[in-house]
Amino acid sequence: MRIDILTLFPEMFTSFLDGSLIGAARAAGLLDVRVTNIRDFATGVHRQVDDRPFGGGPGMLLMPGPVVECVEAVQRQADLGHLVMLTPGGRRLDQSIVEELSRQDRLVLVCGRYEGFDERVKAILAPDELSIGDYVLSGGEVAAMVIVDAVSRLVPGVLGDEESARQDSFSGADRLVEGPQYTRPRQYRGLEVPEVLLSGDHRRIAAWRHEQAVDATRRRTLQATGS
Ligand code: ADE
Repeated sequence: MRIDILTLFPEMFTSFLDGSLIGAARAAGLLDVRVTNIRDFATGVHRQVDDRPFGGGPGMLLMPGPVVECVEAVQRQADLGHLVMLTPGGRRLDQSIVEELSRQDRLVLVCGRYEGFDERVKAILAPDELSIGDYVLSGGEVAAMVIVDAVSRLVPGVLGDEESARQDSFSGADRLVEGPQYTRPRQYRGLEVPEVLLSGDHRRIAAWRHEQAVDATRRRTLQATGS
């Protein structure tokens, strides 16, 4: 899968893309991630990318020119890909959207900064606008990293263990949260590993895990609704 990230702060991605799972997936040729600086598409001596909003109001907006031209230049390098714009007002990311994104051959992720994008960027590019939650970040970079991380895990070969992605929380038809897990030692500070997990009885273990996942999911739903 190829992922292009368009940002005013390319250096934010250096250690993220070189580290751990994503670094290994890139080295293995499973992921081709490229970062492009939106400022390279700004014109004028000051390479200005932002300006004050017409009609007044706080902060600065990204001007349409550098963003649109950067996206078009990156899209010309290969097939257009699925264009995503990170913004707090977009569709809220969840595992089913992550699965949808992971089925694309190419993603183009555009990170905003300042108070947001000039509306004409959306009119011209018609991006899939995504938010990672109902809070405001100082830019889309961290949100883009969240997407790259969550999507990469679903690219075949990246995890090395396909089963582990399938067993993750929110995966599978029932979208359950994962229940509790234990490793050695069997006893820690007086707390024991549940007996069933040591029984070697795989049917009982599977039934217990399912029951725990249903419980954890129900508790989480109750917390979310405040009841
Ligand atoms: N940019 C600023 N806040 C954001 C959010 N919550 N999700 C995605 N992009 C953002």
